[in-house]
Amino acid sequence: MNTFKDKEVLITGGLGFIGSNLTIDLVELGAHVTIVDNMLPRQGSNLFNIKEVEDRVRVNISDIRNQLSMNHLVKGKDYIFHLAGQVNHVDSMRNPLQDLEINCVGTLVLLEALRHNNRDAKVIFAGTRGEYGASVKLPVNEDHPTNPKGLYAVTNLAAEKMVLVYDDIFGIKSVCLRITNTYGPRHHMMHDEYGVFNWFIRKAMDNEEIPVFGDGHILRDFLYIKDLVSCMLMTAITDEAYGKVFNVGTAIPVSFLDLAKKIVEIAGTGKVAHTEFTQERKEVEPGDYYADISRIKKIVKWFPKVSLEEGIKQTIDFYRKNKKEYW
Ligand SMILES: NC(=O)c1ccc[n+]([C@@H]2O[C@H](COP(=O)([O-])OP(=O)(O)OC[C@H]3O[C@@H](n4cnc5c(N)ncnc54)[C@H](O)[C@@H]3O)[C@@H](O)[C@H]2O)c1
Repeated sequence: MNTFKDKEVLITGGLGFIGSNLTIDLVELGAHVTIVDNMLPRQGSNLFNIKEVEDRVRVNISDIRNQLSMNHLVKGKDYIFHLAGQVNHVDSMRNPLQDLEINCVGTLVLLEALRHNNRDAKVIFAGTRGEYGASVKLPVNEDHPTNPKGLYAVTNLAAEKMVLVYDDIFGIKSVCLRITNTYGPRHHMMHDEYGVFNWFIRKAMDNEEIPVFGDGHILRDFLYIKDLVSCMLMTAITDEAYGKVFNVGTAIPVSFLDLAKKIVEIAGTGKVAHTEFTQERKEVEPGDYYADISRIKKIVKWFPKVSLEEGIKQTIDFYRKNKKEYW
């Protein structure tokens, strides 16, 4: 990981959950990190997220849709981690044009900035496992059909394709990750519209009922943020990864019901409760998912290391210490 020492790195969406955790590790590795984030309301941006490195990063509060800003920000960068996005599945159906504008137009503005100002930067794009839609075969590998259920997943798939076109035609080296549900420190705790794992943690810590939709038997693949950050860093420095798409997950299926029970057990508070799916949720729910991660294991040599139990424990410890910044 010495590769990052003195490298210039731009992280779009760097005040959010994944971006801030990545920022902290990159700063510790000696990289010069610039964040661009527009602090989109009701999403994960929080200046506290980068508190421990605030003196060692540059923060640019602007929008990735602003071509002038992006033209300037990409100059001289070695790596671009593209994490800015409209990430709320439910909001993508309520306000579809905003979703399209941020996830597709925003991505295209970034790519155009690179095409005209810096074709040498390497791009790591954070897409979603939602691009697959309902699984027809489990575990899901990268050749699985892509039939997204909601608009958020459609715009992520379109953005991924744009990134790959710029790699292919303009030679801007890029790698696309299809990331599973990720949890851990620095995720927002404001509402349950996305990032339901962290919402379960909040409910347990508040000694309230954890609302599990339906019978709770739907399976998911839950990845701890530290593992995702190490995956992004390792992928970025693997030359053979560029031009490709990779699943990122644990490959271990866990039901929402078992997850809720485990959180209650580890937190020592809270209670599992069943509730009906809301209509909005039902419409975008793709059903069971867990990833086949053999491609990334083979090419990047990455695999997740943190167990679900350990990840839950570390997440609860973090919020016990920093509750007032997130509640
Ligand atoms: N967290 C997950 O489980 C997960 C899973 C799959 C994919 N992803 C993808 O990873 C990326 C980061 O997700 P996250 O969980 O950190 O979300 P987050 O909400 O915590 O962070 C997203 C950040 O992007 C910023 N942003 C949004 N629109 C912007 C714009 N137009 N210009 C500049 N900044 C903007 C927000 O202010 C926020 O800080 C997203 O693209 C998301 O789709 C996340």
